[in-house]
Amino acid sequence: MGTDKDTRTMNFNDINGNNSIIIRRCNLEDLEGVIEINEKELPEDYPYFFYKSILDNFNESFLIAVDIDGNVVGYIMWRVEKVPAIDSLKISNKGHLVSIAVVKGYRRLGIAKALLTKSMEEIKKKIIDEFVLEVRVSNYAAINLYKKYNFSSQSIKYKYYRDGENAYYMVCKAK
Ligand SMILES: CC(C)(COP(=O)(O)OP(=O)(O)OC[C@H]1O[C@@H](n2cnc3c(N)ncnc32)[C@H](O)[C@@H]1OP(=O)(O)O)[C@@H](O)C(=O)NCCC(=O)NCCS
Repeated sequence: MGTDKDTRTMNFNDINGNNSIIIRRCNLEDLEGVIEINEKELPEDYPYFFYKSILDNFNESFLIAVDIDGNVVGYIMWRVEKVPAIDSLKISNKGHLVSIAVVKGYRRLGIAKALLTKSMEEIKKKIIDEFVLEVRVSNYAAINLYKKYNFSSQSIKYKYYRDGENAYYMVCKAK
């Protein structure tokens, strides 16, 4: 992977050695493509203003993967939350993974890993205590992915999803 500091893009070699995917920050004009992927690949939909507010407030960690034809084929978005720590009066900074998805034809190429690696680097600059996320207990692919990044399940959020499925609440301490 090589980073171009001026355009903030990162060329990405997939597992076949093809240098055809670019990882870069999301822009306003990319949102349509992001929303399309979300609607196709995940049961959770968000209103447009939700994406826009993540884009406005957490732009550096809202990344997309773009193919050679300029199509958005993956995205990741985070937000940073300040919450009171359970065991002290301190405020804890959490990097909360809002959503990640990769289009079906582009999976198992390492795109999610590239999105996670780069976005976690960006979030860390905000002085994060921990990274947190929720994932469906049946989502084997995503759970495997998060374990690779040292996330471990801290608790179960019962009936977290609208269809009644439980979520693992996974946490990874930021070093
Ligand atoms: C989960 C998801 C983002 C992974 O994207 P991806 O680009 O295919 O992932 P990568 O190629 O970077 O794979 C990274 C690791 O994830 C795990 N993984 C990914 N797909 C997997 C699968 N089908 N089965 C088991 N493990 C899988 C593996 O550990 C993999 O590492 P490896 O290839 O070295 O074995 C993708 O499957 C997806 O978009 N799913 C639908 C949306 C979704 O569930 N999002 C998460 C919501 S919490």
